[in-house]
Amino acid sequence: MSVAQIQARPPQVQTPARRVAPPCAFVVFGATGDLTRRKLMPAIYKLMQTGSLSDAFALVGVSRRPFSREAFAQAMIDAVKETGEVDAPTADRLGQRLDYVTGEFSDAATYTQLRQRLEQADRDRGTEGNRLFYLATPPSEFETILTQLKQAGLIVPPHGKPWTRVVIEKPFGRDLTSAQELNRMVAGALDESQTFRIDHYLGKETVQNILVFRFANSIFEPLWNRKYVDFVEICAAETIGVETRGAFYEQTGVLRDIVQNHLLEVLCLTAMEPPNSGDADDVRSEKLQVLRALREPWAETIPRDVVLGQYRGYRQEKDVAPDSVTPTYAALRVFIDNWRWQGVPFYLRAGKKLKKRITEVSLHLQRVPLSLFGREDICQNLEPNVLTLRIQPDEGIQLKFASKIPGFDQMVGTVKMDMSYVEAFGGEPPEAYERLLLDAMRGDATLFSRRDAVEASWQWITPILQYFEHQPPRDFPNYEPGSWGPDVAHAIMQRDGRSWREH
Ligand code: BG6
Repeated sequence: MSVAQIQARPPQVQTPARRVAPPCAFVVFGATGDLTRRKLMPAIYKLMQTGSLSDAFALVGVSRRPFSREAFAQAMIDAVKETGEVDAPTADRLGQRLDYVTGEFSDAATYTQLRQRLEQADRDRGTEGNRLFYLATPPSEFETILTQLKQAGLIVPPHGKPWTRVVIEKPFGRDLTSAQELNRMVAGALDESQTFRIDHYLGKETVQNILVFRFANSIFEPLWNRKYVDFVEICAAETIGVETRGAFYEQTGVLRDIVQNHLLEVLCLTAMEPPNSGDADDVRSEKLQVLRALREPWAETIPRDVVLGQYRGYRQEKDVAPDSVTPTYAALRVFIDNWRWQGVPFYLRAGKKLKKRITEVSLHLQRVPLSLFGREDICQNLEPNVLTLRIQPDEGIQLKFASKIPGFDQMVGTVKMDMSYVEAFGGEPPEAYERLLLDAMRGDATLFSRRDAVEASWQWITPILQYFEHQPPRDFPNYEPGSWGPDVAHAIMQRDGRSWREH
């Protein structure tokens, strides 16, 4: 066989055909808010630029603030420009597809207007009656909007054409009871197949890669259990504080803002059993099993296994109470009571104003049972293998292992094998919202949270929330901005003879 013939063979890794959204109108409630400006519009722009949106696309913003269609379009293009370079042809195309309805969410007239604009988009743009509604509003507005949409006939029955889908932003409830109520209310207006509860962490490439890494490689799965894993660390550290979101954060705090959703999602992907298939419900059912196996927190175990913190200066942030006890940091020791993970602690930590921005999962493997290299105590000094999945920044995967240090002595050192996304694939991975909006338009719910899982995660965390509501921490603020959180958080690990991974 000649060289030319060899090269002509199809490559092993084929670039998949571009996934294009079907014709549809995208309606954003809360269109003048921060989320729309910072995340949704830049994502829509990118999808349009990369040819992922159908030409038959329209975007209608709905909000109280009076705006003309032109002023709204300009404000949205400006918002996109704030996030990066914008090319004129795409900006023009997007601008032509933007429309705006001013109105109260509780006023039926808002929905009459909306309906007319959507029918207009069907005629002018060919959106075929397909609608993706996005509730980028405080949760207190969800019921009003869904009820009004239903009364205005803007929600069509599921499983047919045209389709209606609704994306609902977190926080989805504030404890188990409110999440159940919200779910009941949503189920009164929508079928579960039309409901897309968004957790933007699931749209991150590196979070999705946890499953690929685990289930598309045969080398790791045999190690992925209590026989080889000593403990697991999941960290979501941010350097920013609450910025302009003091009012929101006062109602949520780190447990509702990050732990109940983002951290538990990452935990589920790390700990779940292999699903029967990659289908949305097979994957989501396995994640649910992890949540159901989480060891229940008790009043006796919570003070030992949960440490909360608040950064110095939080109480002086805008819209924050001067005596606030809202936590901005949490460290937790969690157990999954199932066959695979029994006895393996999962240490979770998340916080704002910490030393570095890092989101990662680290599996610390057990030490070797016997030192062959010199003195017995060297075995203890050998660092165990650590496999780290870096979710952000510097997305990648790292394996730490022991190696002989060159020389005549039998010296052992630790080396790192590193895979970087940017180096391997050239370029940053796409933004989470791009993937999630495209999936919602295509009706793929794999990366969205299912009703039962949302309730299971609240069921686990509610006793912790209640415990601290009754016994608010007295030592707040208890950590300096730019540190790694309160000193007491180290005790969670130290008690087990371990320490947090250093950065
Ligand atoms: C959001 C939280 O869900 O996630 C914010 O409400 C947090 O408080 C943000 O800053 C972190 O997301 P990312 O993608 O910047 O890591």
